[in-house]
Amino acid sequence: MNAVTPVPRIAVVVVAAGSGTRLGGALPKAFVGLDAHTILRHALRGVFAVAHETQVVVVAPREFVGDARTDAEEAAGSRRELVSVVSGGMTRQESVAAGLAAVWPDVEIVLVHDAARALTPPDVFDRVIEAVDETGWGVVPVLPVVDTIRRVSGSEILGVVDRSELAAAQTPQGFRREILDTAYRVADREYTDDAALVAAAGHQVATVAGDARAFKITTPADLERARSLVAVHPVPAVAGAAAAGAPRVGLGTDVHAFGGDGVLWLAGLEWPGEPALSGHSDGDAVAHAIVDALLSAAGLGDIGSRFGTSRPEFAGAHADVFLAHTRGLLGAAGWTIGNVAVQVQTTRPRFAARREEAERTLSAALGGASVSVSATTTDGLGFPGRGEGVAAFAVALLLPA
Ligand code: CTP
Ligand code: MG
Repeated sequence: MNAVTPVPRIAVVVVAAGSGTRLGGALPKAFVGLDAHTILRHALRGVFAVAHETQVVVVAPREFVGDARTDAEEAAGSRRELVSVVSGGMTRQESVAAGLAAVWPDVEIVLVHDAARALTPPDVFDRVIEAVDETGWGVVPVLPVVDTIRRVSGSEILGVVDRSELAAAQTPQGFRREILDTAYRVADREYTDDAALVAAAGHQVATVAGDARAFKITTPADLERARSLVAVHPVPAVAGAAAAGAPRVGLGTDVHAFGGDGVLWLAGLEWPGEPALSGHSDGDAVAHAIVDALLSAAGLGDIGSRFGTSRPEFAGAHADVFLAHTRGLLGAAGWTIGNVAVQVQTTRPRFAARREEAERTLSAALGGASVSVSATTTDGLGFPGRGEGVAAFAVALLLPA
């Protein structure tokens, strides 16, 4: 089995090179603790829980590059090959530029994120990525402004600003890579954020919904707020991480219709002479049900969110790719696979002769974990009985590694 690590087409630049003057601590802001973990480590926990796989570039103060690498590698788990750490500049803009220089050549979309927004939920990243994919524009997560805003001069009030026209910009802000690169190259002054810099270079910028939890830790009061949020809702080091000692079960089902191109792939095997199933990948309902069962046991979402149609590298992929990638996600979250049982309902192909071969193939793709495969017909009833398609049902047991 070849365990494929696709090159991500998305990168997140996490800027953490500021000093934190307004916070006034002894350490640079990103290295201040929220609990046992630093602000940076919390920020990276969110980044590594994003459904899309991303390169992660951390920009740290020069003397803290080593500390940043430790935080980043802990947050990355088995995905540490996705992490780069570089040193930053005097201003945020210089730090972002330093991070951009470390983005891999094939990356198409870049998100820039403030480490200081340590508690940003992963779905904000996913929203930004999807909006950049759809529009090609720059994308900024925003919150409506709730306070009444007044224009003032010293202690004098000059007027009230219509707050329906205002929105508070957050990060991560996302851009097509070539747009962000060029905008940074031509920028001739300091801008308030990346979206302002990109807009000044003449590009469109749109908004998506931000999240109150994405607030920026700026003052000691913000730090208190972040610390109490972390204390009330302790977060695992990695999304879906193994809870101390407890095994977990998961359930997955999948259905594919016959009518695809080429030859049938089912349960990780090629079936010459049998009609193909249709689907974004090879339509292998047995493998997909197993992936869903494993992800559900770990609480890591489902096959749609991890391998969806926005991931061209999985188009046409076979079971070995899906299963090996899933096993990597589980390993990063601290799980090993106890066993998997899958049942397929179909009239064809006849499974009996190749059942054990299917078990060996699926097991090998999961690093040797026990996989049992059973097959049944449905007495002519329903779509499997009419030969229109295949249904598969899987359960999985995960054990803390
Ligand atoms: N940042 C950076 N390089 C800089 C300045 C800022 O990477 N030279 C990063 C910060 O680490 C932070 C983000 O940009 O994650 C937002 O900046 P801000 O909240 O202003 O952080 P600081 O500049 O560290 O704080 P202060 O302005 O209070 O000194
Ligand atoms: Mg600053």
